[in-house]
Amino acid sequence: MINYLYHANEPYPEIRVENKNQYYAEILMDDYAGFISEFSAVSQYMYHSLKSVKSIEYLSNMWRNISIVEMHHLDILGQLITLLGGKPIYRGSFSTSCQYWNGNFVYYGDNICNQLNADLKSEYQAIYNYENHICMIDDKYIRENLKRIILDEQIHIKYFESAIKKFC
Ligand SMILES: [Fe+2]
Ligand SMILES: [Fe+2]
Repeated sequence: MINYLYHANEPYPEIRVENKNQYYAEILMDDYAGFISEFSAVSQYMYHSLKSVKSIEYLSNMWRNISIVEMHHLDILGQLITLLGGKPIYRGSFSTSCQYWNGNFVYYGDNICNQLNADLKSEYQAIYNYENHICMIDDKYIRENLKRIILDEQIHIKYFESAIKKFC
């Protein structure tokens, strides 16, 4: 179940598209399972949660809950890609030359501070990518969905920033 503390309060828009469009599907593949992607975020935060489970319970729970929100984003993007006529296999597009997602897309890190800093950076990068994709994709439904995802990423930035202040 998604913990409400780790996502924005605004409702998620309906998942739909104006028309099928393979090019738009390809753009979203990078957000779905490219280098900086929801699939990478799910995996990275879950790893960071598992590594800290015995040391700092607060951080472990935070990472786990944020990872679950990223899985919801993965689901939204996967549905949009499918509606656009694409196939939600685990690969990126432009960022990875269409290669399959790979475990080395994850920043594993070896202490909570370099992990938190990498996670913060990846949230900023994700927002930057979503903003670019909102400009590139002329579809009002997709734009609404991406804007809504950004609101959650902004919440994650707040969590990572305050964790860095507290623990680093
Ligand atoms: Fe996300
Ligand atoms: Fe996020």
